[in-house]
Amino acid sequence: MRVIFAGTPDFARAALETPFGSSWKGAAKPQVVLVEFFDYACPYCKASNPHVDQLLKENPGLRVVYRELPILGQDSVEAARLSLAASKAGRFREFHDALYAAGRPAPDTNATAARVANIPPTPVQDPAARAAWDAMNSGQRDAVNRIFANLGKAIAAYERRIMPGASRFDAFVEAAIRRDTNAMEAALTSDEVAGLRLFIGKANCIQCHSGPLFTNNAFHNTGVPAAKGLPMDVGRLEGVRKVLADEFNCLGRYSDARPEQCGELNFLAADAHTQARQFRPPSLRNVAERAPYMHAGQFATLEQALDHYNKAPAAPQGHSELKPLGLTDRETAQIVRFLGSLSAPVNAEPRWLAAP
Ligand code: HEC
Repeated sequence: MRVIFAGTPDFARAALETPFGSSWKGAAKPQVVLVEFFDYACPYCKASNPHVDQLLKENPGLRVVYRELPILGQDSVEAARLSLAASKAGRFREFHDALYAAGRPAPDTNATAARVANIPPTPVQDPAARAAWDAMNSGQRDAVNRIFANLGKAIAAYERRIMPGASRFDAFVEAAIRRDTNAMEAALTSDEVAGLRLFIGKANCIQCHSGPLFTNNAFHNTGVPAAKGLPMDVGRLEGVRKVLADEFNCLGRYSDARPEQCGELNFLAADAHTQARQFRPPSLRNVAERAPYMHAGQFATLEQALDHYNKAPAAPQGHSELKPLGLTDRETAQIVRFLGSLSAPVNAEPRWLAAP
């Protein structure tokens, strides 16, 4: 697939023409840059590869910059991931040519190309790295683990300082407590107030989206459809298995919590009947600013999310807790309006938002 960027703004053009890692072939100091968007499963991309090489040979001033555009399925996405890893390691060309030579992207052809391009494995997969870890004594391993745990704690402590600022909804609540009807009307429109009424009433969103952050922090199966092209995400079921096995969990030696503070972990067991496709409700603060929605971005808009709640379809796995709501179009629009009133800039000291 070839695209010529005539009339593209300069900054976008520069971003497109600057290769990721080693994802390019041809001139080191190019006079002409050609950007190729491609998918390893696209037969035309594959057929053109020798012609592009020929073109580069005949035109020493030409550079071809390759941009991954995996649209033809999960094997293409996997191939693109490996290709980016190869690019980062300076071995894009080797991977690119090896995968086209191996055939259509698939677990075996992808693995062959990764081997030919000698993509460095992650430390867990790398026998040399594993052997180095095994050769360390327990004191050394403990020191590495402690540094790793402290990094996580430092990031968590930082994130806790970044709080959502007061939104128009908060101004409304304060005014309501003061019984100041003028300030209440100034804070929210009548449609937004109607949406709030539905949120805590007929639509019962508050069942799961409660408290200052609009989440009960529990886990629920809400029948969100599976994401197309991705392996089935079993949600909490897999999460529980991972956290129980994790040496960095609440009961682990790097935790600052006392065992009695890890109550949940003590009573946790993987249970496919109840935990399959359970997810935690995210905070709804600033929700209007961060489409797409749900754990894999299944819904592009808040209207689509509301349509899902209104219809309450069966879950792809496990049982959805939702019941059809019988909301009219006007009512769903009012709830969407209300969600818009939860937006506000973050509230943090400026020094926490600037680069260190
Ligand atoms: C039974 C619990 C439950 C109820 C009731 C519920 N939600 Fe949710 N909500 C969730 C869960 C769980 C998620 C995350 C699901 C996921 O990631 O797949 C979620 C996600 C969302 C999201 C997406 C947020 C994001 O950042 O992706 C929106 C918007 C939302 N809910 C709005 C509502 C509204 C409006 C109502 C009422 C009509 C409602 N919810 C009722 C549990 C619930």
